[in-house]
Amino acid sequence: MDRTVTVSGHDDAFPVAAGNSVLEAALRANHWLPHACSQGTCGTCKIRVLCGEVDHGAADETILTADDRASGLALACQAKPRGDLTIAPVNDADSGRPMHPLRDYRGTVRELSDIARQTRRLVVELDQPMEFDAGQYTELIVPGSGVARQYSMANPPSEQRLLEFHIRQTEGGLATSGWIFDTLAVEDRIELRGPLGQFGIVEPQPEPAILIGGGTGLAPLKSIVRHALDTDLLPSIHLYHGGRREADLYDVEHFRALEAADSRFHYHPVLSEEGWSGATGMVTDAVLNDFASCRGHSAYLCGPPAMVAAAVKALKRRRMSPRLIFKEEFTAST
Ligand code: FES
Repeated sequence: MDRTVTVSGHDDAFPVAAGNSVLEAALRANHWLPHACSQGTCGTCKIRVLCGEVDHGAADETILTADDRASGLALACQAKPRGDLTIAPVNDADSGRPMHPLRDYRGTVRELSDIARQTRRLVVELDQPMEFDAGQYTELIVPGSGVARQYSMANPPSEQRLLEFHIRQTEGGLATSGWIFDTLAVEDRIELRGPLGQFGIVEPQPEPAILIGGGTGLAPLKSIVRHALDTDLLPSIHLYHGGRREADLYDVEHFRALEAADSRFHYHPVLSEEGWSGATGMVTDAVLNDFASCRGHSAYLCGPPAMVAAAVKALKRRRMSPRLIFKEEFTAST
């Protein structure tokens, strides 16, 4: 039986089908709730349950503590209603954000190629177009398991039928070693759901932007770069891509060609464990070397949590306003 969730201060309510989280139901009903990881690990989707009860599911104890639960807090991405609910988001609901409702999609694999060490490009042609914002992600459903794995779109939102993903292999991982790096093939059919996430850019911004990506954290940044240049959203963009070795870098020629063709775009690949013709060291140190001050700039960061934390620290050292630092952390999808 569907439960009904009412968001305090809003007239509308939305139904939650059996087994769905509050977040999934909200996004399917075209009702925006703040969220990032959808995995119960970031806390962005925290809500206060004003009336009713929820099953907290797999909410991480460090993100939603026993005290949080006792005081009526829940994670919307994990909470399943036990009856009708009234809730209030804890974080800014950003109601002005354009909404692309969460939907299920099917598509056909059009490209599956090795692009870097243990990294593949997967291109899926959807049966139906998906509207999304540059920086958002999609969940690929691992066949036969019902398990979902999250990957950011690397293509711009203008390309609604051909979605590009960058996938790094995790040894022994169900989705990567067990599927994408093993049995998956061109022409296979795939199930997905999306879009999800609030990382990225939707409106013109006056500040020049510094984009920093580690490994396949490049994917949403590639989408942002292409979208921002195509639609003139940013006055200029510096893209830093960090890898350990040259074999970890990919799309180098793509970005070099873009840099040669568009004076607003600057590309900085950086290697941390190997000497080469380009910059070496930690990617965040390369930013510190290049910018005496980051005041008046914005930043978009995507990569492992340690890289994102180091980048935030470096940018603040260079006087970037914290409100202009946007970040997406990921842990390797298994
Ligand atoms: Fe729910 Fe991250 S904890 S979106």
